[in-house]
Amino acid sequence: MIRAVQPAVVAHRGASAHRAEHTVAAYALALDQGADALECDVRLTRDGHLVCVHDRTVDRTSTGRGAVSTLTLARMAELDYTRWHPGMPEHADDLVHAPAWVPDEHDPGVLTLESLLDLVVDHPGTRLFVETKHPVRYGGLVEAKLVALLRRYGLASPRTKDDSRIVMMSFSAMAVRRVRQHSTTLPTVLLLDQLNAVRWDGTLPRSADYAGPGIHLLRADPDYVARAATFGHRIYTWTVDDPADIDLCRRLGVTWMATNSPATARGQLTR
Ligand code: G3P
Ligand code: CA
Repeated sequence: MIRAVQPAVVAHRGASAHRAEHTVAAYALALDQGADALECDVRLTRDGHLVCVHDRTVDRTSTGRGAVSTLTLARMAELDYTRWHPGMPEHADDLVHAPAWVPDEHDPGVLTLESLLDLVVDHPGTRLFVETKHPVRYGGLVEAKLVALLRRYGLASPRTKDDSRIVMMSFSAMAVRRVRQHSTTLPTVLLLDQLNAVRWDGTLPRSADYAGPGIHLLRADPDYVARAATFGHRIYTWTVDDPADIDLCRRLGVTWMATNSPATARGQLTR
């Protein structure tokens, strides 16, 4: 059965199939490609700033080295994050010498969550899914800083969850719970993979609004969507780049679908 409502398209780390992930260029392209929402990962720098970096270290995605938690924002801003792309070997030593993958007129330095929020508020109707990494290590500091920053932007306490421009996500139920303690109306996604898919009966902790299974889990068990729906949970799934997976999301009635190529997803959904 084809559902009347199509899955909304979320740009995973921006249009990261076509631009270096977590860069202004990647997010600007995602908006041009018709993404309904953007996704980012956030980590804390040594001096307590929230930056958009997926890995524990900057080795893969920048011209520098080291763990984000050991680097200051000023040091991270000196590095170039626009040169890496998925076709390159990981941890390439010669990144500094590699030609820029796509000419990038934007700031090559690290993207702060604040800069990404500026972009989002400039685009009414666009939502931002923020995934916090390593919630245990910092004892809730990441979530506290995230909600405090959202408060400065007037985005921490939406009137209703469906109105919210921001959705908070984590693989950690504890991180989701912490966000709920700071804000009762900020919507949350509990991400699920093989390791933490303990809620596979369709139930979620009370602090989670959406279930966030990887697309590999839905391929193996498509009935999960219906089971979650019986508990009132809608679905955010990731990372959906394959045409067959896009069709699966459409058939199952997935609400949010994260993809590295919003243009491909948008093109297929409008056919
Ligand atoms: O959107 C959720 C997804 O991004 C989780 O996996 O490793 O890409 O952050 P990862
Ligand atoms: Ca992520």
